[in-house]
This record gives sequence, C-alpha cells and structure tokens, in this order.
Amino acid sequence: MAEYDYDVLVIGAGPGGYVAAIRAAQLGLKTACAESRATLGGTCLNVGCIPSKAMLHASEFFDAAANGTMADMGIEVQPTLNLDKMHAQRRDAVEGLTKGVAFLFKKNKVDWKQGHATFQDAHTVKVGDEMVTAKNVIIATGSSVTPLPGVEVDNDKKIVVDSTGALELPAVPKKMVVIGGGVIGLELGSVWNRLGAEVIVVEYLDKLLPGMDDDVRKEAAKIFKKQGLELRLSTKVTGCTVKGKTATLTLEPAAGGEATTLDADCVLVSIGRRPNTEGLGLENIGLEVNKRGQIETDHDFRTAVDGVWAIGDVVPGPMLAHKAEDEGIACAENIAGQTGIVNHDVIPGVVYTLPEFAGVGLTEEEAIAKMGDKAKIKVGKFPMMANSRAKTNHEPEGFVKIIAEAESDRVLGVWAIASVAGTMIAEAAVAMEFGATSEDIAYTCHAHPTHAEAIKEAAMAVQGKPIHI
Ligand code: FAD
Ligand code: NAI
Repeated sequence: MAEYDYDVLVIGAGPGGYVAAIRAAQLGLKTACAESRATLGGTCLNVGCIPSKAMLHASEFFDAAANGTMADMGIEVQPTLNLDKMHAQRRDAVEGLTKGVAFLFKKNKVDWKQGHATFQDAHTVKVGDEMVTAKNVIIATGSSVTPLPGVEVDNDKKIVVDSTGALELPAVPKKMVVIGGGVIGLELGSVWNRLGAEVIVVEYLDKLLPGMDDDVRKEAAKIFKKQGLELRLSTKVTGCTVKGKTATLTLEPAAGGEATTLDADCVLVSIGRRPNTEGLGLENIGLEVNKRGQIETDHDFRTAVDGVWAIGDVVPGPMLAHKAEDEGIACAENIAGQTGIVNHDVIPGVVYTLPEFAGVGLTEEEAIAKMGDKAKIKVGKFPMMANSRAKTNHEPEGFVKIIAEAESDRVLGVWAIASVAGTMIAEAAVAMEFGATSEDIAYTCHAHPTHAEAIKEAAMAVQGKPIHI
C-alpha cells in the first residue's frame, strides 16, 4: 500500500494552484487540489483578473460610443446602458472559464477536494471532513483584500465595497470614492467612470501606480485626469461613517494637517492585498510567516518545512496571476525531480485601462540605483503620437521607454503606455529573457503598421537614431 494518498496535494485552486496541480499530474504524479470555494480558478477567475477585464472591455465600448471616439470615426450612436446584461456577460465569462478548469482537472486526472484545508502535520491535511495525506503539499492559498482600519467593507450593502463588491454594483453610483490609486482602484474606478459615475481617487502617495517607472506614473496622472477622474494625491483616509445610503469619509493630508470630509454613495477600498495564511494550521507544522505575512521559500519554492512548498500571492513578489502560474509549473517540475525555474527579474505587469500601462524589468530609478550612476544607463523613448497605427486609430496617448545598460547595451527595463501596451510588453519580456540588447530589438523587423513598431523605434532611440521623430 502507498505510504500517502497522493504524491502532491495542492491547497488552493487559483492560477498558481490549479496550474501546479495540472503540471504535477502531467508529470505522472498522483495529484489532488483542495479548494474552499465552490468553483475552481481562485481570485483571478472568480473575482479578479477575468471579471474585471469583462467589465473593462464592455465599458470601453460604451465609453467609445458615449464620449465621441466612435463619432470621430463616422459611427454616430447614442448608447443605452443595460447594466444587467453587462453583468451577465461578465458572469458568463467567469462561469465558462472556471468550468474549463474543472474540465482540465478531469482530463489530467487531478482530484478536486472541496473544502477548507488545514495542516494536521506536514503530510496530513484536513480538507472539510476528510483527512488527506500527501508526500508533498503545495501552499497556493493566494491573497485577500487588506482592510483599512476605520473603513468597514460591507459588500452586501454596496456602499463601502472591496474589489469583489465593486464588480457587482447593481447601479452606476453617482459619486464613487476610490481609496488607493493602485491597479485595482484605477481599473475599477475607470469602469464606473466610463459608465457615468463621478470618480474621486484618494491616494496616500504623491503619485499613482507605485512600482511603475516614474515617467509612467506622472503620465498616468495626466491621462486619468483627462478622462475625468479627480485625483487627491498625498491624502489619507482616516475614517468612514455610513448613514442611510451615504458614506462620509474623513480625509487628511498624508503628512498630517487639517481634516476634511467627503460624501459618496459608493466607496471602493483598494489599498492592497495580503497573503492568506490564517486558518491554514501553519502552527501545526512549525512554519512561520515573515513580517509581511508571506511564506518564504527558496529558489525551488521549498518552505522551511520538508515536503511543504509554496507559490503565488502567498509568497513574496508581485501579486500577479502569470507569476503564480509560472511558479506553479516550476514548483511541480521541482517536485518531479526536474529543474523548474522562474526568472523573477522578467515578470511583466499590466494595468488594463485605456490606454494600458505596462512594464517589465527595472524602472529608470531602479536601474540608476542598481548601476550606481545615471551615466551607466541609456534611455530611449518614442511617443505613440508618432506611431502611424496609434495615430490612425485615434490612440495618440502614451510612449515606449527602453532602459539599457550603457556599456553592454543589454536591456534592463521596458515601459509602455499604449492602447495595447499589455500585448506589446510580451515582446520586451521575450527579448529580456534572451538577454537582448537594444540594438537586437532595433534591428528586428516589426510589421507595419503596428503599435509594436514603437518598441523598435524606442530601441533605435537608445541608439540615438529613431526614424519617425
Ligand atoms: P488565488 O487566485 O487567490 O487563489 C487561492 C485560492 O486558494 C482561492 O480560491 C482560495 O479560496 C483558496 N484557499 C485559500 N485558503 C484555503 C484553504 N485553507 N483551503 C482551501 N482553499 C483555500 N493579476 C494579473 O496578473 N492580471 C490581472 O488582470 C489581475 N486582475 C486582478 C483584479 C482584481 C480585482 C484582483 C483582486 C486581483 C487581480 N489580479 C490580477 C491578481 C491575481 O488575481 C492574483 O495574483 C492571482 O489570483 C494569485 O493566484 P494564486 O493562485 O496565488 O491565489
Ligand atoms: P496596489 O498595491 O496596486 O495599490 C494600493 C494603493 O493604495 C497604493 O498606491 C498605496 O499607496 C495606496 N494606499 C495604501 N494605503 C492607503 C491609504 N490608507 N489611503 C490611501 N491610499 C492608500 O493594490 P491594489 O490596487 O489593491 O491591488 C492589489 C494587488 O492586486 C496588486 O498587488 C496587483 O498586483 C494585483 N492586481 C493586478 C492587476 C493587474 O495585473 N492588472 C489588477 C488588479 C489587481
């Protein structure tokens, strides 16, 4: 009789966990995946990447019809919003994709164990009422919304909501305050702004989108203001009271100072996410979390406890679905005795607004800090205004910026603001993965007319010789 029920038990069926489970099964390991939600796919498929993109995509069409972009191209329509239908197509997308993961589990013979998982010891996990033993356990429990003291989220009431509540609003708010000018705040704030809400973004820092290149962050503020978002930067929210259908927020300058109040009929709390480790029974296996509540691993995704591995949002690094997926594949390969590696220096990030904001590698500030001297880097920039396709498509906003090491010309970072920056950035990631120089990109033939030509031109600008500007 086998010593354990499974070779691998994955806890959590988000993009990290479900991908790890499928890869482990593909490699011939007997695999199960425990998930406390009723559906597979985790945050990403159920309440994150997918439903937010469904609302962003649909609201983009509404906005293009309503704000005159379509009329500029000779299409004159007066749109009427059927919000119920917009929500229905969002739910359809989620249902289709989560069922797709269930199909992939069946196809790959991954056993789906429904229920909350708690470690009893390093090889025994209680899932619901069942005891499951496994030689290897992968923790892929993801993350949840970081609460803001003094601002209580109640998604049922639809007044003070988190990202999950903000995806489900039954009517367009008149006035929405977004707390946190990061990725969620700007994506979901954009959705409701496009559908007619007055949106005010309150951000603690002096710029939006922390983690992105400074030029991108400065341009983001201009672009979102132009789109009608009101930005209150360097401002903190210190409290919130709800009376009837109105929320009243108390605001203060981040550096301290006089308090003011702000009323809204909807408040979105989007100040970050924190790892899910509570109720997992980590104390039963002697596994500690770091100061940020994350589980630390080595390069192979092993935790400090033998036989226990961890991936995705619950470990350090950007909280992104594709990072979780890549870690899931590498972790399963390591368990199977192969060499699974993730290059954490080349993880692209994308904000799916219009235009999109994307980047991979180092920001200019990080590159200077790393090289120790501004003279040790070269920067090439090319505006989308001078890209023929963007111009023709009435999408003149944005630029591509390439940062290269001065001596070797090796590309250190690429940043883009463009309608399709999220798609364009894949080229930069491949180039960087192969250790490309800016000259390699500049001498690679790019199809015309495409937005991607702006990457080639930015690379030519690193060489000091762009053609179209
Ligand atoms: P998760 O997807 O969080 O999955 C973890 C799963 O584990 C959950 O289903 C949870 O129910 C389950 N679980 C937790 N504890 C237990 C337990 N003890 N027992 C059993 N099951 C348990 N990222 C992108 O890359 N692109 C995007 O466009 C994007 N958009 C987003 C939009 C929103 C609104 C949000 C909130 C997030 C978005 N993200 C996006 C982030 C992305 O969703 C996460 O980075 C990704 O889901 C992390 O994957 P994961 O597998 O680590 O965890
Ligand atoms: P975030 O970290 O992107 O942004 C949070 C923002 O809130 C920061 O700008 C921060 O300075 C600000 N903030 C913190 N405390 C504050 C306070 N008290 N008052 C005002 N502002 C405050 O976090 P967000 O937007 O909640 O997203 C969580 C995670 O989900 C991100 O790490 C992101 O990686 C992931 N995500 C990714 C998406 C994508 O890839 N397109 C889309 C949505 C989420």
